[in-house]
Amino acid sequence: MIVLGLSGALTHDPSAALFVDGQLVSAAEEERFLRDKHAKRCWPLHAARYCLEAAGVLPAAVDAVAFPFAPFGFFYPGRWHFARRYWYAPDRALNALFNGNRLFRRNRRAILKLMRQLGIDPARAPFRPVPHHLAHASSAYHLSGFTGKTAILGIDGKGEYATTFFGWGENGQIHTRREFYDPDSLGGVYGALTQYLGFEMLDGEFKVMGMAPYGDPRKYDFRRLIRYGGGSFTVNTRLVNTVGLRRYKHDGLSFYFSPRLVEWLGPKREGDAIDDPYVDYAASMQALLESVTLELIETYLADVLRQTGRLCFAGGVALNVKLNQQIMARSDVSELFVQPAASDAGTALGAAAYVAHALGDTIQPLADVYLGPAFSTDDCRQACEAHPARPTYKTVADAPLEAARLLAAGHPVAWFQGRMEFGPRALGNRSILGDPSRAGMAERINAQIKYRERWRPFCPSILDWAAEDILQTRHPAPYMTLAFDVAPHWKRRIPEVVHRDGTARAQVVTRTSNPRYYALIEALEARRGIPVVLNTSLNRRGEPIVCTPTDALNMFYGSDLGYLFLEDLLVYK
Ligand SMILES: [Fe+2]
Repeated sequence: MIVLGLSGALTHDPSAALFVDGQLVSAAEEERFLRDKHAKRCWPLHAARYCLEAAGVLPAAVDAVAFPFAPFGFFYPGRWHFARRYWYAPDRALNALFNGNRLFRRNRRAILKLMRQLGIDPARAPFRPVPHHLAHASSAYHLSGFTGKTAILGIDGKGEYATTFFGWGENGQIHTRREFYDPDSLGGVYGALTQYLGFEMLDGEFKVMGMAPYGDPRKYDFRRLIRYGGGSFTVNTRLVNTVGLRRYKHDGLSFYFSPRLVEWLGPKREGDAIDDPYVDYAASMQALLESVTLELIETYLADVLRQTGRLCFAGGVALNVKLNQQIMARSDVSELFVQPAASDAGTALGAAAYVAHALGDTIQPLADVYLGPAFSTDDCRQACEAHPARPTYKTVADAPLEAARLLAAGHPVAWFQGRMEFGPRALGNRSILGDPSRAGMAERINAQIKYRERWRPFCPSILDWAAEDILQTRHPAPYMTLAFDVAPHWKRRIPEVVHRDGTARAQVVTRTSNPRYYALIEALEARRGIPVVLNTSLNRRGEPIVCTPTDALNMFYGSDLGYLFLEDLLVYK
């Protein structure tokens, strides 16, 4: 079966993913093609075209189009929960009851139009809606490769109505145990605090998590935001997850929290520099998320975990690596799989996996996320020749070795190779690299690419044989979705990739997963004695990760970076 998954139902992170006979063969996010981060209010036309072309699949050969957003009947509890909890905004409450599938119908129209643009005939390849949280769940479960009973966790802002999913998978089937509905959303509360702390929702949550270790979670009691206990939780919509008249408004913008929150905590944070008391708020928010989630896991998933120890996790909140570290610390969790494109981009993949499985395919586990466009050295040469900056470049015989030499000499290096990664983490194909043992390297990269807040730590890519010694665990870590405590004897050797709390969001690299990247780190190790490279994504602040050689050149000439590898070419200033 050939199943194309398309996402973009919630007006952000549209993407496409293609399964052929249960094998994920291509996937990409639309933002990379449009050069517009999160590609809000767009549909994944370029991404879908790319997925079909890369796999050599004609539009007429597609058997089904899967979409992670579904209609729900009048008696669906999510609609009634929504109506009851939004009583203070009667237009919304009534809408949920009497016109509760309006957004679905809009989405369906848009996808049918997109299918026609792609040349896919809905009469031959039916449009198959999949409930949003089942798509998240499927993306985690079907791609985890876990056999036997597996606990499934899904947490995001909101799908149709559900915000939080607890279930399990067995023999390819997904069973739902409990869902919570809007406005009772952990992702929503975290997003509201993200806005309050001066970042963009659905983008800055990472920065809040990065701020948290700088603060004290005991100074402010955030339990008044979420009441929880007895296997349930209720968000205080007088403070957060507010709509309509309850919203805090400022400069013509309205926010997902209320004026009451501002009365309690003080003015919303502006700018980049101020710390107190905001770092403490970030710490309290992070602690609250962790404690509610752990309690719910105990209620709904502990029995499955005690049987097999396997847990898979998706939804935007699954990118919270500090939460994931707390989950892994449970004695009954032996292995945690976080689907690397955990936010809504990954629902294209999940919906497609769900439909392919329903059509009889066996879904193959995720082998890697190098699922996007690739370019030959010749393509890169042509991009250089056509580029207005008139790049100086040369062909190198051994790009990994040359890159390692530059890194060892103290230079940051932009590294563009092979297929683009799917998901928010660059994993060695669209990366900026540095020597993590050289004090000041992180700062230098920040200065050269005018890039990011100091809250966001840089991350290490580690050779497989050294991972256990550095991270003190054998737990798999291929995708930078998990944080680990760095061993004390390594902290001073790789200071540039250890966060304030002593953790690192690591990627363990194997020779088979990425031979060129592996060779580069090996060559660096031969020179510096450190089997680790600092890895951050190849983009500037506010831009998506680069896709094409031209994007890489544009980024390079818009920064102070000195060296860019494009396949076997070295571009230098
Ligand atoms: Fe979602």
